Amino acid sequence: QKNTPLLGKKVIVTAGPTREAVDPVRFFTNHSTGKMGYAVAEAARDLGADVTLISGPVNLEPPAGVNVINVESAKDMFDAVIESYDGADIVVKTAAVADYRPKRIHDSKMKKQDGELSLELERTIDILKTLGEQKAHQFLIGFAAETNDVTTYAKRKLESKNADMIVANNVKQAGAGFGGDTNIITVFHRDGTTREYDLMSKRDAAVHILKEAIERMGDKA
Ligand code: PMT
Repeated sequence: QKNTPLLGKKVIVTAGPTREAVDPVRFFTNHSTGKMGYAVAEAARDLGADVTLISGPVNLEPPAGVNVINVESAKDMFDAVIESYDGADIVVKTAAVADYRPKRIHDSKMKKQDGELSLELERTIDILKTLGEQKAHQFLIGFAAETNDVTTYAKRKLESKNADMIVANNVKQAGAGFGGDTNIITVFHRDGTTREYDLMSKRDAAVHILKEAIERMGDKA
């Protein structure tokens, strides 16, 4: 018999990096491959959910049966997430969203010049924080990619973004974070409970993340 605790539930997953254009041929991005987010989308589908995967540019085949919305910039991702937020039951923000973007996008290719070049950057919109502010019935799961003081920063994110759960990974640890097929996660809950997991596949980590959410959803489930 199939175990489908998320049957009838709408789950939004964001995955991959964003691209912030400098000019028509250049952009800023990061090391996210989308593997963690795609694993969450697939696991949510297998647990019975109706899944919308909002993905930055990656080289992965999306899981069958999942609605995919492809985006590029943090602004595009924000617009797509907000569009489906009202109807969502669970939102999992796995994407590595740029915190800064060039203040000006040049219309034509920037030409080389002698000497140094400075580009002015401005903050992008914080999607998770906005979702936290507009939260009604949704169960909001953020990620925290850290290189040090993981617990301190994860707990801070739980509060400042009004998330229900934060999944932290130390991206400097071997086998964790960007790129590979495995991760080492620690889950932080609002009531102060924390659960550390050993190294496992991103697919197994995804199932643990969703099961922890299902257990905690209470009235929201
Ligand atoms: O894609 P992979 O190669 O499999 O790698 C997986 C991963 C390392 C990208 C993933 O496990 C992970 O940690 N994702 C979160 C990356 C990140 O941007 O973390 P952060 O600590 O900078 O951001 C915290 C949270 O705020 C995240 O949920 C992020 O989606 C969200 N955020 C950040 C900035 C912004 N402008 N808007 C946001 O919503």
